[in-house]
Amino acid sequence: NLPKNGKVSWKAPSNIALVKYWGKRPVQIPANPSISFTLDTCATTTSVSFERKEKKDNFSFDLFFEGKSKDDFKPKIQTFLERIEKYLPFLKEYHFIIQTSNSFPHSSGIASSASGMAALSLCFMDIEKQLFPSMEENVFHAKASYLARLGSGSACRSIKGSLVQWGNHANIPDSSDLYGVEYPFGVNPVFKSYCDTILLVHKGQKQVSSTVGHQLMHGHQYAQNRFQQAFDNLDKLKPILASGDLEEFIKLVESEALTLHAMMMTSMPYFMLMKPDTLQIINKIWAYREATKTPVCFTLDAGANVHLLYPEDAKEKVLEFIKDTLAEHCENGQYIHDKVGEGAIKI
Ligand code: PMV
Repeated sequence: NLPKNGKVSWKAPSNIALVKYWGKRPVQIPANPSISFTLDTCATTTSVSFERKEKKDNFSFDLFFEGKSKDDFKPKIQTFLERIEKYLPFLKEYHFIIQTSNSFPHSSGIASSASGMAALSLCFMDIEKQLFPSMEENVFHAKASYLARLGSGSACRSIKGSLVQWGNHANIPDSSDLYGVEYPFGVNPVFKSYCDTILLVHKGQKQVSSTVGHQLMHGHQYAQNRFQQAFDNLDKLKPILASGDLEEFIKLVESEALTLHAMMMTSMPYFMLMKPDTLQIINKIWAYREATKTPVCFTLDAGANVHLLYPEDAKEKVLEFIKDTLAEHCENGQYIHDKVGEGAIKI
């Protein structure tokens, strides 16, 4: 009863971690739990056309990125298909045409692996759902997140909104190393419309990939303390998220970002992904916050770009601050305004 052919499309957002995932063991099991805001505007849209084929001994797919054939991404997709085949046995039955595009500018330094792997996983799950129409929605989402994790760890946090937690934690019910879950505790409304403006500091290729960065946490002399800190920070975050205590939120989020980069700088071999402009921006944010008491803070991913996090009611002031003071540190003055979003959608 496999369908002969068809087409499915999903749009999945990017996410920004508050407590960071850095370090893993096979297969894509995080060394510590993490939590992220799901974003809204920064997203990948993927459609998968599928057609039954004669020979079923191999994966068969064509890949198009923004309308152009994209052979250099093919090995990554091939590895992904190999990893997920045991959970989706129909994959060798079809030839797939995968078409994908991002809402953010090409090679802007914004990683598309989280949104991209989430969107692709949802497309495959959509085909699976045609085989099992009675599949419940929560199973659909959990399995999509499970598959996305196998593509790129943090992608498992890009299925749902608005706060997603990933990784076993004794004090978080239903938390799992295998997939992301919607944060189960009370969250103050201020965080439901939180803004994230992404300052594009450096658009070039990263010197060290996050795959290598994760590996360097093996045998890292500060790793165990760092992992424990992430567990503790998830505990600390619970009352902060419930009350909307922005002062404590800022301390925790900025400390997480700097600890992530401290882990990179204390790896062996050591490396640094921040650029001089990243540091200039951080110093300017601190000075601005001190002078104006505006509750704006920064966080960082595995790269030089800076995410500015702040409540919606500060938006006008912060955007003016960015335009007047921070944009000069961005490549071509570029930044992207985003906010907390609701998760992936079928289109
Ligand atoms: O999902 P990966 O393997 O690209 O790891 C990304 C990890 C960070 O973005 C640095 C932190 C996080 O939790 O998103």
